[in-house]
Amino acid sequence: MIARKTMVAGNWKMNGSLALVEQLADAINNVKSSEIDIVLFPPFPLVSAMIASGVTTGTQTVSENTPGAFTGEVDAQLIKELGAQYVLVGHSERRSIYHESNDTVAAKFARAQQVGLTPILCVGESETEQANGETEQVVAAQLDAVIDKLGVAALKDSVIAYEPVWAIGTGKTASPEQAQHVHKFIRDKIAKLNSDLAQGLTILYGGSVNEKNSELLFAQTDIDGGLIGGASLKADSFTAICNSAKGTV
Ligand code: PGA
Repeated sequence: MIARKTMVAGNWKMNGSLALVEQLADAINNVKSSEIDIVLFPPFPLVSAMIASGVTTGTQTVSENTPGAFTGEVDAQLIKELGAQYVLVGHSERRSIYHESNDTVAAKFARAQQVGLTPILCVGESETEQANGETEQVVAAQLDAVIDKLGVAALKDSVIAYEPVWAIGTGKTASPEQAQHVHKFIRDKIAKLNSDLAQGLTILYGGSVNEKNSELLFAQTDIDGGLIGGASLKADSFTAICNSAKGTV
């Protein structure tokens, strides 16, 4: 069996401060281990401070364009130059609030890889889609947008995050079995195109993960860590989640 990297990623969304960077960096530097990758995604203005603190850093989005007249946007090459390593693409808040389509998300994914950043592709269904039994169809379309544009090989240098929209920030976590089912669906779908790549692909779960439910979620065969929102803003909770990911490889 191909070993997969376990990752715990923290998405700060539009929260945080310089003081919080210092606090979380101290806490993370104490729980760091070769067993897991710990990555934080602060808002853009905190990216340099986060990198300087020694924490592996990513950004919450990136422009799909090369430098030019795009007021307010941030270029991938600049993110790379600052020393960040990862970029979230297709987070459900970007898709729903900022109307990012599957095509736009695929273009951002491509641009991130073009400069050597690792994209974390977020996928997941809404509450209505879940109620209508459309989870697999929605997740497949989100994956296919990237596979059709770039080929399945592009997924090799990426991470997938399955985040059911109904579980984000709601306290309604998917059960470990429910999450495992979708993670397995994602891995099996990719395995049909490239089995070794699928076996080596890190697939994170996100949506109301906390220090109480993380251990059982991370113990699932196809769950390789988590993308944590609210709980990544609290040093105690986030480090407890990181510790619960150790030894689950
Ligand atoms: P949550 O957010 O952990 O606060 O539900 C997860 C995310 O949006 O990535």
